[in-house]
Amino acid sequence: VVPAAAAQDLAGLEVAVSVGGTREHLDPVRFLGNSSSGRMGWALARAARLRGAQVHAVVGHTDVAGPPAVEVERVGSTAELATAMTRAAKTADVVVMAAAPADFTPRGSSETKIKKSGDAGLSVELVQTPDVLRGLVEARQDPDQVIVGFAAETAVDQAQLVDLGRAKLARKGCDLLVLNAVGHGLVFGQEDNEITVLSRDDDGATLVDGPYAGSKDVLAHRILDRALTHRRRDTV
Ligand code: CTP
Ligand code: CA
Repeated sequence: VVPAAAAQDLAGLEVAVSVGGTREHLDPVRFLGNSSSGRMGWALARAARLRGAQVHAVVGHTDVAGPPAVEVERVGSTAELATAMTRAAKTADVVVMAAAPADFTPRGSSETKIKKSGDAGLSVELVQTPDVLRGLVEARQDPDQVIVGFAAETAVDQAQLVDLGRAKLARKGCDLLVLNAVGHGLVFGQEDNEITVLSRDDDGATLVDGPYAGSKDVLAHRILDRALTHRRRDTV
């Protein structure tokens, strides 16, 4: 079912991919997290490796094990993910932000376990984490490097999904944006998925590819196909 896996069309290329969710600590034993399983990120790492790429995975919290022959760097918070991905992206030909970074982090994390105080509740002030993807786009040195972002959106239909995606693609400045519709128990933690890939041509027009349904492994190959097409657009 994965014919592209036979082709070594990523041989000689370096792929940096972020996987899973990040955790923002309130104290040594508590954190804010999300329900990302890491399956899509791992599927991309596996697909890229099968096609001959050297793969560096920056991995937050995941529910499942990763593929063999992939270099793994573990991270906790979004700030740690930002540092690791920025370093990995320096030499990468393809950069994929498949992780679900926490958008907010406590303003201050306690060094000691937070204790209850009488019957009082607890208020926590949250501040925004760095936008890793936008940072990678801004720091890009190699004009041939392809940067891929993801967006999970709640949309009523495909047209609204694409509209939301267009706005996010413009805001992030990445080359490809992989969109999926969420809500109603869709996507997170599931084996199968449906994606639409947005990209921009050199005139700034948005190309819409999909929707494609399938296993995350099959979709990972589709995404890498699109990344390669984008990379080669000047030479074909
Ligand atoms: N992302 C990132 N750094 C963050 C948050 C998100 O790099 N602090 C990346 C994700 O890995 C994904 C893309 O940005 O590739 C879009 O993530 P998404 O959560 O859809 O977008 P946000 O910019 O966080 O906006 P919002 O959640 O408000 O829709
Ligand atoms: Ca977000």
